[in-house]
Amino acid sequence: MPAVSSPEAVASAVHAPLREATFLQDKFGRAITDLRLSVTDRCNYKCVYCRTGNDGEQYAELALDEYLRLARVFVSLGIAKLRLTGGEPLLRKDLVEMVRELAKLRTPTGEKLDIALTTNGHLLAELAQPLKDAGLNRITVSMDACDAATFARITRVPGSYERVLAGVRAAQAAGLAPVKVNAVLLRGFNDDQIERFAEFSRHENVIVRFIEFMPLEEDRVWTPEIVVPMREILERLGNIRPVVALPPNAASETARRYTFDDGIGEIGIIAPVSLPFCGHCSRIRLTSDGKIRTCLFSQMDHDLYGVMRRGGSDEELAAFIRKVVDQKEARHHIGEPGFQKPSRSMVHIGG
Ligand code: 5AD
Repeated sequence: MPAVSSPEAVASAVHAPLREATFLQDKFGRAITDLRLSVTDRCNYKCVYCRTGNDGEQYAELALDEYLRLARVFVSLGIAKLRLTGGEPLLRKDLVEMVRELAKLRTPTGEKLDIALTTNGHLLAELAQPLKDAGLNRITVSMDACDAATFARITRVPGSYERVLAGVRAAQAAGLAPVKVNAVLLRGFNDDQIERFAEFSRHENVIVRFIEFMPLEEDRVWTPEIVVPMREILERLGNIRPVVALPPNAASETARRYTFDDGIGEIGIIAPVSLPFCGHCSRIRLTSDGKIRTCLFSQMDHDLYGVMRRGGSDEELAAFIRKVVDQKEARHHIGEPGFQKPSRSMVHIGG
């Protein structure tokens, strides 16, 4: 007769090997399949809702081979979607090469990754086709107004609107359609643009996604009043034509999707403030200095790069990632009493 083991010993014997073999899951049972990789925290725009007008603090950027090694380890743990962000990712000279190398990775079940990019679009006109050819699957362009004057007031860069528009069109032409356009709405700044954006989606055949403003900026401009809530956006869209809801593409999708009664145009509304979606969160982030963040609003980050620099093996990197994912927060606390801003601003986290 084998010795009788304690229930704990049995549980750990049963679960330990299984856990090793399974993919990333946090302690709330959420599968973590989506990595946002910030490849730089430099940015050529100084959008009023993100950065101060001054030159901000800079962190180090990892080298291409370092990103590729970390990405390989993440993918071995079940990360299937990679989104390259920044800062402004197109400022990296080796970005096309990075995409080409990432596109060679396969998930543990042999599938290609879904590789996406978020960019401000300033350098996109020249880079859209090379990125597509390198294996980029999807692109999101941040664009916070549909007229040149308002746009330049937000980005603080003259001529930015024309360049971004050219970038969006180049991406469509390169086969990256449907391009998504992200617009962060700020009351008194660009909330007059809602109807224009709807027309833009209909004419340019892009998906426009309105994002509620979150407290992630360098300057302290966030107040609950400056947020343009989802309900108000929907009312305003209804001024164009009757709005029709579209079914979600996936449970973890952050945007509620809508079209109009003639089926032309697609609008997404991302409402982290008025309608948090943390319960379905499948994301973790790697900053451009190699730290893991488990939530945009985390109060700390986890130095994965440090493990690598000290000579850590792939197994040690994987164990570190698992341990960190286990600490992922249940949810954010925007708008609640005692809310604390995260330990970094958006440009230093990665969108
Ligand atoms: N709140 C909401 N969205 C933001 N973004 C940047 N800062 C904020 C913020 N404070 C958006 C960018 C980009 C996306 C990654 O996040 O405009 O489109």
